[in-house]
Amino acid sequence: MKNIVILVSGSGTNLQRIIDTIDSGEIQNAKVSLVVADRECYGLERAKNHHIDHVLIPRGKNFSNELGQVIPKDTDLIVLAGFLSILKPEFCVNWTGKIINIHPALLPKFGGKGMWGMHVHNAVIEAGEKESGATVHFVTPGIDEGEAILQKSFEVTAEDTPETIAEKVHHIEYEIFPKAINKVLGNNS
Ligand code: GRF
Repeated sequence: MKNIVILVSGSGTNLQRIIDTIDSGEIQNAKVSLVVADRECYGLERAKNHHIDHVLIPRGKNFSNELGQVIPKDTDLIVLAGFLSILKPEFCVNWTGKIINIHPALLPKFGGKGMWGMHVHNAVIEAGEKESGATVHFVTPGIDEGEAILQKSFEVTAEDTPETIAEKVHHIEYEIFPKAINKVLGNNS
């Protein structure tokens, strides 16, 4: 059984999707052993509702050090699921190949510092992009620069707004996140 630690900062719908797809067997041979939040958020409530161990480590310059202390040594995968703090380079290096993130755009486009949430979707519209999507990628010290594991796109139409793009991206995320987790864990999917 592989142990997954999930980091959240927000509503945690991707966390919920991971919990549900473990329950349904779509993600095989895994359990969520811990949920870590860097602020009060609904993601923490989801962990509580499912009786999953959870901890709040307030965001700030000590976050990565404290995270390093609470993460069980037998953790197989750390999943950033709507997590907004930047992890320290040393932390990323210590867990090389074992930390993944989901990003609401087609990296390497629309990534890097400041590119999160609606900022991404606004930028996609402003740039007149013909497509957007989501990317699951490994986390390295460079923000949003790690190798892509899975990516899927959709067409952006003239009617799309940042809000409709956000909704479409979420649906794509729910589809590719479990698949990417299976891939990294070496499962069939
Ligand atoms: C997702 O769009 C993800 O790509 C981004 O933050 C959002 C989190 O959504 N990193 P949720 O909290 O899982 O609903």
